Amino acid sequence: MLGQRSLIGRGAVAKRLASVLDGKLRGLVRVMRRRKLAKLIALIHPGFHQIPNTTALNRYPEIFACAANAAPDTRRILSFGCSTGEECVTLASYFPAAQIVGTDINPLNLLKALKHRNDRVRFVYASDRILSGFGGFDALFCMAVLRTSKKDKIAERYPFERFVERALYLESLVRPGGLLIIHNSTFRFSDTPHRCAYETIPVSASYDKVYLPDGITEAKPDGCIFRRINH
Ligand SMILES: C[S@@+](CC[C@H](N)C(=O)[O-])C[C@H]1O[C@@H](n2cnc3c(N)ncnc32)[C@H](O)[C@@H]1O
Repeated sequence: MLGQRSLIGRGAVAKRLASVLDGKLRGLVRVMRRRKLAKLIALIHPGFHQIPNTTALNRYPEIFACAANAAPDTRRILSFGCSTGEECVTLASYFPAAQIVGTDINPLNLLKALKHRNDRVRFVYASDRILSGFGGFDALFCMAVLRTSKKDKIAERYPFERFVERALYLESLVRPGGLLIIHNSTFRFSDTPHRCAYETIPVSASYDKVYLPDGITEAKPDGCIFRRINH
């Protein structure tokens, strides 16, 4: 009797596994049919946060202007999740003395970004090993990257821990006294454990929906430009 029950149990698990795999495979085939290559790469690569690559020149003028005002002598900037590179072109104009490194996890975006390459703007693949080799940025921009575009089941689809892991990695790349700019993310940098190592520089900008770590309760955004306190 017991043996029969465990056989039934195993059968149910196998059936469930087959249906999950089937669902994933069907998703992949659908994406391939529609030639949505970027989405396909994102489905395979576990490190993706925001998948769509929407971007534009001067997309956040208030934030760029405020950051440039707060750190006019900025020399080294990282644009994390630079998509097709327009953000880097924009940053080069707001920070005339700076070298800009643009990075993205999607190689197709980087291929398109290459047309913006020049003596001040360069692009590298978003691997921790490569980025840690640069280290010590004066300003790091992470705009519309650490987020999900889903509208429900946020805690399941984009748990706070995923956000914290990347946010804390990024802040490790900012030199003391440098700026960390995290904008349009699903969660707030101020809810992460390293918040106390930063002071907030106030800026008025519009924000998408933001949540408390539970991924359910909507929160009031509390800034996006943070200066790493010197120590
Ligand atoms: C909506 S675009 C934002 C582009 C630009 N920052 C802006 O705000 O206009 C999001 C970009 O983040 C990139 N991305 C997602 N996860 C990433 C990761 N873990 N590392 C680097 N880039 C990532 C995506 O490939 C996409 O190009």
